[in-house]
Amino acid sequence: MKIRIIVHSYTGNTYEVAKKLQERLLDDGKDVEIQRVSMVGGDKPKGKDIIIENPPEVEKYDALIFGSPVHAFALSLAMKTYLEEIPSLHGKKIALFVTKGTRFNWTGGNQAINKMKKICQSKGGTIIGTGIVIWNKQRHEKIAELAREFSGLF
Ligand SMILES: Cc1cc2nc3c(=O)[nH]c(=O)nc-3n(C[C@H](O)[C@H](O)[C@H](O)COP(=O)(O)O)c2cc1C
Repeated sequence: MKIRIIVHSYTGNTYEVAKKLQERLLDDGKDVEIQRVSMVGGDKPKGKDIIIENPPEVEKYDALIFGSPVHAFALSLAMKTYLEEIPSLHGKKIALFVTKGTRFNWTGGNQAINKMKKICQSKGGTIIGTGIVIWNKQRHEKIAELAREFSGLF
């Protein structure tokens, strides 16, 4: 099975999680690569026009994992724009995760996951798993747990 992990990561945390997920899925014998989403002009674009630089292709993959940081109580702008511009996710198995700084429920984790879910489902994708990693001292256990969980999905 060909899996792509596609992440936006501004300060590196989400990418770090993606690497751990990749390691685990490779150990499982899966064909898995990571690709990063970035915006033209860097992560602080001026104005409202967001352009995604070389958007990762999804057509060739059976399964996808999308990961993003929570920014301003919501899904990061780069990931939101990227997902909204994907033409179709029909027939794809999709797992989602976000990383965030604060542990409180109202600080955007669920909101970001729900936004990702909604966009992916509107394009025909099937959500098979989700996870939220809070960037605190317990994150290593949480990342290991997420890797175990996602490994059972594909
Ligand atoms: C501009 C900005 C806004 C953020 N807003 C939130 C937020 O609303 N809620 C939260 O829990 N964490 C917030 N954070 C913390 C990040 O979500 C967290 O550090 C995340 O792990 C960063 O992932 P990255 O290193 O992949 O960019 C914010 C960070 C930045 C830089």
